[in-house]
Amino acid sequence: MNAEVLIPAVQTRREGAVLVVSIHNPPVNALGQAVRAGLLAAVEQADADAAVQAVLIVGEGKAFIAGADIREFGKPPVPPSLPEVCNRIEASNKIVVAAIHGAALGGGLEVAMSAHYRVALPAAKLGLPEVSLGLLPGAGGTQRAPRLMGVKAATELMLSGKHLSAKAGLAAGLVDKLVEGEDPQATGLAYANELLAAKAAVRRTRDIEITDKAMALADLQMLALDTAKKARGLFSPLKIIECVQAAVNLPFDEGLAKERALFTECLNSPQRAGLVHAFFAERETAKIPEAKAAAPRHFAKIAIIGGGTMGAGITVSALDAGLTVTMIERDADSIARGQANVEKVYNGLIAKGRMTEEAKAAIMARYTPSTSYDEIADVDLVIEAVFEDLEVKKAVFKELDRVCKPGAVLATNTSYLDIDAIADATSRPQDVIGLHFFSPANIMKLLEIVVPAKVAPDVVTTAFELAKKMKKVPVRAGVCDGFIGNRILAVYKQAADYIMEDGASPYEIDEAVRGFGYPMGPFQVTDLAGGDIGWATRKRRAATRDPKARYVEVADRICENGWFGQKTGRGFYLYPQGARVGQADPEVLAIVDKERAKKGVTPRQFSADEIMRRYMAAMVNEGAKVVEEGIALRPLDVDVTFLSGYGFPRFRGGPMKYADMVGLDKVLADINEFAKEDALFWKPAALLQKLVAEGKNFDSLNKAV
Ligand code: COA
Repeated sequence: MNAEVLIPAVQTRREGAVLVVSIHNPPVNALGQAVRAGLLAAVEQADADAAVQAVLIVGEGKAFIAGADIREFGKPPVPPSLPEVCNRIEASNKIVVAAIHGAALGGGLEVAMSAHYRVALPAAKLGLPEVSLGLLPGAGGTQRAPRLMGVKAATELMLSGKHLSAKAGLAAGLVDKLVEGEDPQATGLAYANELLAAKAAVRRTRDIEITDKAMALADLQMLALDTAKKARGLFSPLKIIECVQAAVNLPFDEGLAKERALFTECLNSPQRAGLVHAFFAERETAKIPEAKAAAPRHFAKIAIIGGGTMGAGITVSALDAGLTVTMIERDADSIARGQANVEKVYNGLIAKGRMTEEAKAAIMARYTPSTSYDEIADVDLVIEAVFEDLEVKKAVFKELDRVCKPGAVLATNTSYLDIDAIADATSRPQDVIGLHFFSPANIMKLLEIVVPAKVAPDVVTTAFELAKKMKKVPVRAGVCDGFIGNRILAVYKQAADYIMEDGASPYEIDEAVRGFGYPMGPFQVTDLAGGDIGWATRKRRAATRDPKARYVEVADRICENGWFGQKTGRGFYLYPQGARVGQADPEVLAIVDKERAKKGVTPRQFSADEIMRRYMAAMVNEGAKVVEEGIALRPLDVDVTFLSGYGFPRFRGGPMKYADMVGLDKVLADINEFAKEDALFWKPAALLQKLVAEGKNFDSLNKAV
């Protein structure tokens, strides 16, 4: 029997005049129904017991309370509600103290703000991150935080979703006292007894007056303007501001009512569903079949082969993760450039005041440049990041096979090459794995971990461990051209090309894609990445392209002019004098027209809606094929790939979640309709057809592996 089940979610015990209320709801003390009911009962008990003069609320384990139970959102509510619990805590006639030693986030901080006094320990993390789930603090947080911290600071905290340290929380007025130590019960008890000895009174946050209302409202107006610009289609940020306006303008209880109404609107919005899906999906991708079978291999010393942009970015990630890195380049000049690429990142941080020279020196002490493979004979793990060419990579792996110690993990950073072939260039394919980093590798969160046929399970778990150390979001992928991300990208990019040739300008397409929530459209991305990259890929694929498949040549014509995007001052857009934002280029439109004429296409109008229907249908259909073939473990792995690596709007949850929300039958109907024009391109995935036939959605395949 599981011992966990026997421990109540909330326990009370008397320590002198203090009723200690401790919360035990692993892993993070989320405010599930049992916790809410337990807290309510504990306050009732304290109020009814004359011997109790103070209540101490503490969390067991690592967290104080990490917030509402996110798994309950969207399900029918079960009383007591969190606002009711918070109001009851605040109304208590015994002084209530919260002792915060870990995460006090969302509802957790709302509970703490309803207490009368707050003491924090150094590891406390305080925040109202509801905005990242498409919500707002709905248990009085929007009314109490401005009263404790000031209107502007509280609104900024809620809009950013940031976590404050204990020290910052003290400075902001969120906590009354900061005490060194690790034991919240001892610290909280000492503080409660200190308050009792000083005859401290019940002190309710709701009773704090917001002074200088005119200034507060002016600040809110500025924040609203800024938010409208930055929120890019997000629903809850402006609602947060509305709630705080109510806190300033209305009596407390009316403010609470307003907050409740707006919270419900957010809760019912599809954005909440998308963002909550993203939250769990990002935690799910690390759960892989190999995890049960094999513990990771030990690694501390690693080697990176290649000091170009990618190799240097990976080196920075590895150094930041505390690893010792030897970088290998072929000659003195190249290794000097490689080191300079690494140092440039840290120098940038120093220039911005975000790093000291000493900190850089301490990090660089773990970095060794070398031009000899023999120097990496004792490393535990190698990441090869040389030129993207199969023969070049195979030669590197032969060399690694010669020098590396038995059991060293040999990883290749590639975006599309056949890793099985690279593994077979060695005598130890069981040690070879793919790690597809995204550029800039020290910043981008996504890491596709590509699992070739012969790799040993503990090499796979080692790669996931590396991702964790580097604070990356790992996604397990199978071997195919482009793995999960680039394979799907190639298909929806093709759909965009067809839409362009059929009548929409690249600028209209980019605008529609931005309107959907992306930071950039596909043609802007091409210009940013460099048109020559895609051009090289198209040339590589030319030999294997189905001659019957439709092929749009506009991008090739643009590249033939030497217009490779931002770096050459023009691509699909013009970038006069190094401008970062492009301007429409009439010459590009003329090229598009000429290509249409060549193919006998009469251009037609596309609405933004039709553009997105086609763009998304192509993405979802290929996503379904990727899942069907086992390249992605589950639909959620496709979602996380696009959220973390391709700028997919987080509030839509990822392409597969988006398809579920639209309805798979509708997506399939679109594909079938488009197939009337081009049956070769618009071939519906068998998995999509099967799910529609069974009345199921992609989420039904997201079960734990
Ligand atoms: N409700 C339900 N489950 C939660 C949760 C919540 N509020 N917060 C975390 N969890 C779960 C995670 O899904 C994970 O479950 P799993 O082990 O089954 O995958 C587990 O708790 C541990 O969380 P994880 O994020 O992996 O641990 P961490 O130590 O890296 O981070 C937190 C801990 C609390 C900082 C982080 O989980 C977090 O930010 N949680 C959300 C806080 C929040 O947004 N609260 C407001 C809710 S409105």
